[in-house]
Amino acid sequence: MNQVISEIRLNDGLTLPTLGLGTYKLNGNEGANAIKQAIDIGYRLIDTAYNYENEGTVGEAVRRSSVPREELRITSKLPGRYQTYDKAIVTIQESLYRANLDYYDLYLIHWPNPKQDLYVEAWQALIDAKKQGLIRSIGVCNFLPEHLERLQKETGVLPSLNQIELHPFFNQEEQRQWHEKHNVKTESWSPIARANELLENEVLQQIADQHGKSISQVILRWHIQLGAIPIPKSASPERQLENISIFDFTLNEEEMERIATLTRPDGRLKNQDPAFYEEF
Ligand SMILES: NC(=O)c1ccc[n+]([C@@H]2O[C@H](COP(=O)([O-])OP(=O)(O)OC[C@H]3O[C@@H](n4cnc5c(N)ncnc54)[C@H](OP(=O)(O)O)[C@@H]3O)[C@@H](O)[C@H]2O)c1
Repeated sequence: MNQVISEIRLNDGLTLPTLGLGTYKLNGNEGANAIKQAIDIGYRLIDTAYNYENEGTVGEAVRRSSVPREELRITSKLPGRYQTYDKAIVTIQESLYRANLDYYDLYLIHWPNPKQDLYVEAWQALIDAKKQGLIRSIGVCNFLPEHLERLQKETGVLPSLNQIELHPFFNQEEQRQWHEKHNVKTESWSPIARANELLENEVLQQIADQHGKSISQVILRWHIQLGAIPIPKSASPERQLENISIFDFTLNEEEMERIATLTRPDGRLKNQDPAFYEEF
């Protein structure tokens, strides 16, 4: 049976499901089948990136599925090496050609790369590509409040969402508060911490047992209740179904607070602090 996912509305009016599918490492024919099968069971928001080299795979999955294009929300991302205005415009076009799609629902700047100092220029290109109808909604990833404030000051336009590393070991409370105050949605990458030791955590196991759910389901439900949009990646039909089956239970306040105690300052998976870390 198809799972029904709740929806949210972005600051520009576009609606999104509150949970999506990550696709990093889903490539080629196998990847297209895995993504198509996720669409079949109810996923509507699909996350790709120019740098994952699978925009073509995602486009192929969209064509293999029988779900109308307008019901899907496809996201891609601009790499750091193409942040000058002219390169960004051409890269967005190239992203669309690779996927063989007419538009992306969401297009994000992948990393701010503050040292090269081109992200405002890249943002202007996204604003213009939206006006040209190539993109329905524009956002960013890994932007700190200082980067977001600069976008607002220099272009007058804030992103519809910011996709950031977020899981119980690194819960980004301050960043999330900034988003909430400025009506920018939070999207969570590596929402189950790439299935590391988080999935053996005792506190989470106790909560999972209370609800008859798995630890992954408890974590994904926690994201939803924080108001964040998790995009767990799974190639397996069983785990895709497990990850989407989280709309039939609620964590109480005490459980939310217990999960909040798991965060730690060094909780990032690979120490990718956007103030310093760069990706091209
Ligand atoms: N913007 C950025 O800078 C950025 C950075 C990183 C990631 N992302 C995006 O975020 C997406 C998600 O993050 P991620 O892929 O890094 O990590 P993730 O979704 O937290 O974890 C994926 C891993 O968990 C396993 N898994 C999935 N569901 C499971 C379950 N129920 N039980 C046990 N294991 C499970 C998957 O294996 P199987 O496939 O075998 O199930 C895979 O190894 C990415 O795919 C990508 O689209 C964006």
